[in-house]
Amino acid sequence: MRTFYITTPIYYVNDIPHIGHAYTSIACDVMARFKRLSGDKVFFLSGTDEHGLKIKKSAEKAGMEPLEFTNQVSQRFRDLLTALNCSNDDFIRTTEVRHKKACQALWDKLVANGDIYLGKYSGWYAVRDEAYYAEDELTKTAGSKMIAPSGAECEWVEEESYFFKLSAWGDRLLDFYEKNPDFIKPVTRRNEIVQFVKSGLHDLSVSRTAISWGIPVPNESRHVMYVWLDALTNYISALGYPDIESEKFKDFWPSAVHVMGKDIIRFHAVYWPAFLMAAGVAPPKKVFAHGWWTNEGQKISKSLGNVIDPYELIADYGLDQMRYFLLREVPFGNDGDFSKDSMIRRMNSDLANGIGNLAQRTLSLIAKNCEGKVPAHSDFSEQDNKLLHAAYALPAMFSEHMNSFAFNKALDSIWELISAADRYIDSEAPWSLKKTDITRMQTVLFVLAEVIRIISLLLQPFMPTSADALLNQLSVPSDKRSLEHASGKHVLTAGTPLPAPTGVFPRFNPPK
Ligand code: MSP
Repeated sequence: MRTFYITTPIYYVNDIPHIGHAYTSIACDVMARFKRLSGDKVFFLSGTDEHGLKIKKSAEKAGMEPLEFTNQVSQRFRDLLTALNCSNDDFIRTTEVRHKKACQALWDKLVANGDIYLGKYSGWYAVRDEAYYAEDELTKTAGSKMIAPSGAECEWVEEESYFFKLSAWGDRLLDFYEKNPDFIKPVTRRNEIVQFVKSGLHDLSVSRTAISWGIPVPNESRHVMYVWLDALTNYISALGYPDIESEKFKDFWPSAVHVMGKDIIRFHAVYWPAFLMAAGVAPPKKVFAHGWWTNEGQKISKSLGNVIDPYELIADYGLDQMRYFLLREVPFGNDGDFSKDSMIRRMNSDLANGIGNLAQRTLSLIAKNCEGKVPAHSDFSEQDNKLLHAAYALPAMFSEHMNSFAFNKALDSIWELISAADRYIDSEAPWSLKKTDITRMQTVLFVLAEVIRIISLLLQPFMPTSADALLNQLSVPSDKRSLEHASGKHVLTAGTPLPAPTGVFPRFNPPK
């Protein structure tokens, strides 16, 4: 059986959930659902990143102990996944015992393999990014502040620290990228990373003594692990690391795909595979970096007060509509702009007037003229066959796009079929056949119902609730909704009673 392991980044609990978190989680959910429908055994992981100075400071600000604080705020991210209808199989918190064990075991391995040594770190650190920066990467402001490329302010740090011998892994990383050309996607990110590694890697400080909110370094009570080493390890602690012989680990690790925003690709594509190779574990199969959303053309930031609240989007436009918009509007990997106008345009033209209208027209004609049962068909005309063939050919093309994370192209390919079905219904005009040729009318309505069945099957990963509603209206049994049923071998059965049709994709109603 094919397996598929997909992960979101684990989210920093100091933030309130925003569109960025929602976007990654939805994209991973769509992929996880698609792979399940394709028959793969799937493991979908999300979670929260709870250690480090940034979280410690937020807890202090809230007047709470760090653990009490993280217990409370981690729940917000669990709740968001539920609100987004994400089908994650597990949710990991870095404060859990299973994770701590995995991190310490990984650390021991790195020490045993000679990749960690004790030294002294003096350099720049940005708490907001929890990242070290070289001086030549920074810009000095008029007020002598040192600013990282991400915009985060850096502070000077000098302390005893354990180092990971990252500098020794450059050539092996380049060799790995070369042998695995699809490891970093999209290709623009791959080029950036290759350039970065070619420019020479410095050893990486992987422990801190100035803070205590973290996972203790084994046998070294003064040090806690660098929060990114801790955080990245979540991807294997959830599979039971260090037990790499377990079925779960063996089943899923080789198929691992990490999805994240472009800002944190370096951690995933450079540090993480180096840590893993040093510990004798194969790197994941793929890391995919998506772009960033702006709001009405403006960078999203707390100080501008334009952070997009996913709960508000759900309330204003509907969950499935929002899921559809985010994955349809821009190619996955590119930056995108959220605007009310474009959201409403997609909701009305693609959904209400597109698939919604096609389904509603067809299903009400069937309800009115075919006694509310799947009509029987007679011989197919050339036009019927043309449309049916297009429908049965679609799943293969759709899957190809999905497998390369081209969500927008996968959706485009469905909408091409919707347009073809719209042209067909207009030219065949089943409403007027009612008086002239009932047999022909039934055939046309059968063809349309079949096409809507295929469309609904393919829409399931993106809009699970709406696609389910459509499949229910076609009385498709729940065990006949996987992609293997999206062919001409599993057609609708004539005479099957259908429930009374109701609209599935409402037009936009301005919020009161
Ligand atoms: N804790 C780290 C990840 C550790 S994974 C081992 C982290 N957390 S985060 O909460 O700050 O980031 C969550 C994700 O949200 C990142 O992938 C980031 O790229 C994404 N986004 C944050 N703002 C975004 C937009 N405006 N648009 C799209 N995604 C954005 O980083």
